[in-house]
Amino acid sequence: MKTAILYESWHHGNTKKLCDAIKKEYDVILLNVKEDDITLEEYDLIGIASGIAYSKFYKEIEQVAKEKMPEGKNVFLMYTCGKPGQDFAKSIKSTLASKKCNVLGTYCCKGYDTYGPLKLIGGINKENPTEDEIQGAVRFYSEMISKL
Ligand SMILES: Cc1cc2nc3c(=O)[nH]c(=O)nc-3n(C[C@H](O)[C@H](O)[C@H](O)COP(=O)(O)O)c2cc1C
Repeated sequence: MKTAILYESWHHGNTKKLCDAIKKEYDVILLNVKEDDITLEEYDLIGIASGIAYSKFYKEIEQVAKEKMPEGKNVFLMYTCGKPGQDFAKSIKSTLASKKCNVLGTYCCKGYDTYGPLKLIGGINKENPTEDEIQGAVRFYSEMISKL
């Protein structure tokens, strides 16, 4: 089974930490939305991982999902954000639904956030994602592959 995780993590590399931890234990390909050639047809399972801006996955990854996600894929979602609580994956889920993709699950945790005025107070969630949260993402991935 081939897995790719498409990711965008430009704020503090918070989300990339989750991706790297999964890659350390499993045979997955990480694809940076801005730097890599995004061809997804060959993968059986595709992760989409992003920080959150303005209550959605980052603009570029939302766009790449619209343009490059093949129909009918098994997908899982991961994100880090400043203030968890609402479903920040709503918009990307609606893109995936329009492509008849099967969303197997979503993982989220807090991430270090220095956006806007938060910078003045040194940011919030300085310790996040914690090692526990990072390992939580690895366990989440193992659940995702066990569903296939
Ligand atoms: C421009 C911008 C907008 C943001 N908007 C939100 C938001 O609407 N809700 C939220 O919880 N966090 C928000 N954040 C915080 C980030 O989602 C959080 O720091 C995330 O962990 C960054 O991930 P990354 O380091 O992988 O890019 C925002 C951050 C930036 C830079």
